[in-house]
Amino acid sequence: MKPKVLIPAARIRRTVDRLAREISRDYRGKNLALVCVLKGSVVFLADLIRRLEIPCSIDFMAVSSYGKSRKSSGVARLVLDLRESPEGRDILLVEDILDTGRTVRYLLENLETRRPRSIKICALLDKAAGRKVPVRADYTGFRIPDRFVVGYGLDYAERYRQLPYIGALKGGSAAKVLRTARRKSEK
Ligand code: PRP
Repeated sequence: MKPKVLIPAARIRRTVDRLAREISRDYRGKNLALVCVLKGSVVFLADLIRRLEIPCSIDFMAVSSYGKSRKSSGVARLVLDLRESPEGRDILLVEDILDTGRTVRYLLENLETRRPRSIKICALLDKAAGRKVPVRADYTGFRIPDRFVVGYGLDYAERYRQLPYIGALKGGSAAKVLRTARRKSEK
């Protein structure tokens, strides 16, 4: 199943350049710590930091749940925590995609208890149609339709992360693609 190109690599590059310029302008003289939400955001983070014109540190967090049930139940669990304390830092959460918003909501609530100086969100993709909890990105790359997207770090059952572009899997909305895949696996 070859994904249809939704956002070509050249457009991603231009948008990451724009985001890096905005972040470099807004965080000049601050104490910036980029927090990458594993695994999907790792490709975006790697490109973004190489274009920043200001000092920053990087750190990682990962959230999991029981299989993919988090998508419907909202249950989340921290499986990897920061190495450095966020206290007094200007935290920028780096996400590949904001979908239901549950991952970011959970991480914001967790980080806010640890007294950072500020917390903002940078999301490469924003799928507003998927939103279940109110979360807004402060920096957004692309607003995308309700499709199951892969590539540039994003996966479908761990496949496609290495694609240099953002692709959409055939079969309609994200929910429909998952339903069809589930039916096929039960046959
Ligand atoms: C994806 C993505 C975001 C999250 C967004 O991660 O990387 O972190 O889902 O979805 P939400 O807004 O509905 O919470 P996933 O759970 O697929 O893990 P992965 O990044 O390790 O693939």
